[in-house]
Amino acid sequence: MKTRPTSRHCRPPSLPADSARRPTWAGLAQGVLLLLASVGAQGTELPAGQGRELVAAICSECHSLTYLERAQGYDTPAEWRHVMASMVELPEAQAGTISAYLAQHYPAKPEKAPTLVAGDFDIEITEWLVPTLGQRSRDPVEAPDGSIWWTGMWASLAGRLDPVTGQMEEFQLPRAARPHSILPDSDGDIWYMGNSNATVGRLDPVTGVISEYPTKSRDPHTGVFHPNGKLYFTAQHSGMLGRLDPATGALTEIEVRTRPYGIKVGSNGSLYIAFNGTNAIGELNPDTMAIRYFEIPDDRTRIRRLDIASDGSVWFVNSSLGKIGHLDPRTGEVRQWDSPSGPASHPYAIAVIDDVVWYNESGMRPDTLVRFEPGSESFQSWAVPSGVGIVRHVWVTRDKNLLIHQSSSNRIGLVRIPR
Ligand code: HEC
Repeated sequence: MKTRPTSRHCRPPSLPADSARRPTWAGLAQGVLLLLASVGAQGTELPAGQGRELVAAICSECHSLTYLERAQGYDTPAEWRHVMASMVELPEAQAGTISAYLAQHYPAKPEKAPTLVAGDFDIEITEWLVPTLGQRSRDPVEAPDGSIWWTGMWASLAGRLDPVTGQMEEFQLPRAARPHSILPDSDGDIWYMGNSNATVGRLDPVTGVISEYPTKSRDPHTGVFHPNGKLYFTAQHSGMLGRLDPATGALTEIEVRTRPYGIKVGSNGSLYIAFNGTNAIGELNPDTMAIRYFEIPDDRTRIRRLDIASDGSVWFVNSSLGKIGHLDPRTGEVRQWDSPSGPASHPYAIAVIDDVVWYNESGMRPDTLVRFEPGSESFQSWAVPSGVGIVRHVWVTRDKNLLIHQSSSNRIGLVRIPR
């Protein structure tokens, strides 16, 4: 498997509080002293050359240096600088030394290039670079007032973007929370899944006040509001599902199969849950919290996310096998199609808009956005402009456009879909 995201991606960074906004590395002497330990601890041997020590010290601050091997690589210092610039602001001299070193030792890997499928459909993608660098921007949503919100998981923040003016503002959340995703409620409050501090939290954007609801599951992950007003969420590593009633604060949590991930409300009122640790999709009764499972063929199947068609059937990504699939919960029948970029394409986020399926191929560089039309069983795909993955979750706006993001290039995006 090539760039399959692993649980390492969930490793929180060790950013000191005062460096969270724009990490700079003026006082590097200290970092250099630490670097040998950091290389050893991560087991990543960087090739010898000028710049090695800088890379070891600076680039391991937020994530493992194995990212360098897994990444697509670039042949020119300019391309490496472009990628680094969304993560860390460096003095000119160091940016030059590091990018030259990386271009020499981590050149492009053509095998990561996607298979793009041409077609007649025309979309327009706008991306915004969010203020705090290296924050792992992700999971944008649209609030009732039309503003776009996202979370910066590693900087533990929630940001608001005005898509008309491009103006952005970031709210610091409790530093230990590191939300995996956020959700607006109908009043415009922003709920976050505190993935690292076992809480679900609520931010009131008018007052800035934050309320926290402790959970038994240690890692609230993805949430969804049900028409009954309650918030349902998955907790991947705890193997749990939760239900929080915002009106009373009542919380119910149950244990389920391994690694529940994406969650959506079906048109019949049931909740559907994707499993990233076993080949199953769950159907949860919102009242009794009873769950039944649909087995999806091939025990290597791992499903990150799913969405619901107008007839109540379920579309899902088969992330581990590079396919998209369809489940009819009334019959249990499953059909699957190979994604254009093949078995290593790692489809990740998915949304169904007017019964057309949109998803991304996160294993490719650039990350692609794919459109699949079930009627004709035809694909079309586009490279995401900033190109340095990963779309991990998408959101459909009231205008039926698509919100995307890139957690590596620190961007939030809007895909305008004509109709
Ligand atoms: C302030 C935090 C931070 C620092 C410092 C940082 N990165 Fe990153 N980096 C990120 C985040 C966030 C991601 C996306 C991780 C994810 O989505 O799992 C990322 C991802 C990457 C990737 C994967 C890109 C892809 O194809 O998806 C590469 C390569 C990378 N970083 C290189 C570097 C290099 C080189 C440096 C040092 C110059 C560096 N990083 C320093 C935050 C940081």
